[in-house]
Amino acid sequence: LLDEGKPAINLYNLRIESDLDDKKTGKKYGLGSSAAVTVAAVRALCKWYGLTLTTPELCKLAIIASSLVKKSGSGGDVAASTYGGWVMYRAYNREWLEAEIEMIESGDSSLHKLLRKKWPRFEVKRLKVGAGLRLLVGWTGSPASSAELVGSVKAGVESGDLTAHNPAKTYEDFCVQSEKCVQKIANALENGNIDALLSGFAQNRALLKDLGEITGTLIETPKLTRLIEVADNAGLPAKTSGAGGGDCGIAIARAEDFDAVSARIEEEWQNNGIEALGLKVAEFDESGDLSLIEQRKDDHIEIAYRQYNAQAESGFEHVRFIPNALPQLALNDVDTSVKVFDETTKWDTPLYINAMTGGSKKGENINESLARVAAKTGLAMASGSLSAALKNPRLAETFSVIRRFNPRGFVMANVSAGASAEQAIKAVEILQANALQIHLNAAQELVMSEGDRDFSAWLNNIETIVSALDSMKVPVVVKETGCGMSARDVLRLQNVGVRAVDVGGRGGTNFVAIENARRGRESGYEFLDSWGLTTVESLIDIAQCDEILREQRDSAQMQVFASGGVRTPLDVVRSLRLGASAAGVAGEFLHTLISEGEDALVEQIESWKAQIRVIMALLGCKNIEDLRENSRILIEAKSCAL
Ligand code: FNR
Repeated sequence: LLDEGKPAINLYNLRIESDLDDKKTGKKYGLGSSAAVTVAAVRALCKWYGLTLTTPELCKLAIIASSLVKKSGSGGDVAASTYGGWVMYRAYNREWLEAEIEMIESGDSSLHKLLRKKWPRFEVKRLKVGAGLRLLVGWTGSPASSAELVGSVKAGVESGDLTAHNPAKTYEDFCVQSEKCVQKIANALENGNIDALLSGFAQNRALLKDLGEITGTLIETPKLTRLIEVADNAGLPAKTSGAGGGDCGIAIARAEDFDAVSARIEEEWQNNGIEALGLKVAEFDESGDLSLIEQRKDDHIEIAYRQYNAQAESGFEHVRFIPNALPQLALNDVDTSVKVFDETTKWDTPLYINAMTGGSKKGENINESLARVAAKTGLAMASGSLSAALKNPRLAETFSVIRRFNPRGFVMANVSAGASAEQAIKAVEILQANALQIHLNAAQELVMSEGDRDFSAWLNNIETIVSALDSMKVPVVVKETGCGMSARDVLRLQNVGVRAVDVGGRGGTNFVAIENARRGRESGYEFLDSWGLTTVESLIDIAQCDEILREQRDSAQMQVFASGGVRTPLDVVRSLRLGASAAGVAGEFLHTLISEGEDALVEQIESWKAQIRVIMALLGCKNIEDLRENSRILIEAKSCAL
């Protein structure tokens, strides 16, 4: 981590304030305060040194830090503090991590490598629990030492005399049963199924009782037993929390029953010397937790930048122009302008900055830079998805900054295909946009643990949005985000009134790979990294579709934009030859902006504009129509066949 960028070691002053102990007695509640402090300190230091880590990397770094000072504990508390909200956690292998750290200390590896490596067994997964379930936390007042407790269980396991207390059970049985039970509880939480939770918690309790017996350890103290029984009597699933042995227990209630039932339980807990702590599970994302939305947006920028590959694989390398040795025109004769949408809008260059960001401070800064670049170069530009601002109006400024710094340019807003017509109109208003992009990203959503799972209303939504915006004279482009579009997709969109698509093909920035990286462990979805049609395959499939061509000849024009792995001005001209009106670029421009700055990006775009003209002159084509009709190409074997 530090060995790559080599930032200078600077002095800092770290002040820690915490509410995670009892104000009267100073006793710790046992809520994982050391993990919380570790995560906060690691996060603060990363910020101090300007290191942008993804959430899984931050979690790993905090686990490394805490494993250096704490010789036991699962790391679950560290993961909970890093991610926030409901998470499912599977512990890392302690011996493996110790060996890895030794390799770093001996100079045979680096922290940087360790953070990017897959850790055996280790998994953190966000659970989509929603607002239907609420948590009650009771504190028994007696502190428990997880380290001692885990040490005692470990000693019991290592003594080799496991069956002395209970000959029928073994530690391995416990591990197998426990794994199944945890999965059952995770499913029950996501489905809001209280009955399944009751049986999952009961099973967990029985398993811990067995573990206590086979290792001679007291996990459920008498007060924790009372805490569970009180909740049980009211029909609520309850369990010890953390390592047990004291401290806290939890109960879970349906949100609609919470007020009625919590008062009763808290009173009874109090009668038994148990203090209700009045805590809530941190909400995230949908419910508007700023830090988590921002983290995701920052992760996207950081990982897209890291995964950037100058050699895209969008199929452009298979498209070769047949040269024209007698161009018969002057460079000055070439006109690269293109009419888009309603034929009254003209772009001087068939190129635009495609949708990227917004929704975090870093996103806002990038939008501000891109807007200045677009204004200077005259390029059209799109914002990233405005979903975050539609959920949380405080984030609107991270998008509207585009209009502030590019008041007269052509700007496109961007929403998801799950958006309503009202949300689409709001998005256009925030940016005073000239057009709206609606993005399709089913593969990305399915790979994201917190992503959408229901796409059944997309086509309907798109139809409603198109018709609402039609009356406002705002054109709509439906775009993919890296998996491409087939002619069949385009026809279906055409049937609901769409008149422009951006194929967003495979081969450039890859959101499936980005989400796989965010999950930080073999997600099981790596096979989707190569899902979809490349940009060139999409363009060819659409260009060869007679039905689209026929409709294009009749009045129902379908305009096609190309994006996905456009990395050179030659790729732009190849896209135009394959039927695109203009080409959109995201990853390439983001890379230049982050690595070399705003001026370098302006310079790059100005060179591309000039080079597009040069290529057209070399082909003897005086305008884009001429290029489409009169230039010839060779396409090497790999074209599409549907
Ligand atoms: C994107 N892209 C994107 N697309 C979209 O419709 N809405 C969005 O919010 C985003 N967000 C986003 C963030 C970042 C950091 C990148 C790099 C890209 C996808 C983008 O518009 C484009 O379709 C793909 O990136 C493929 O083009 P490139 O990057 O290969 O030129």
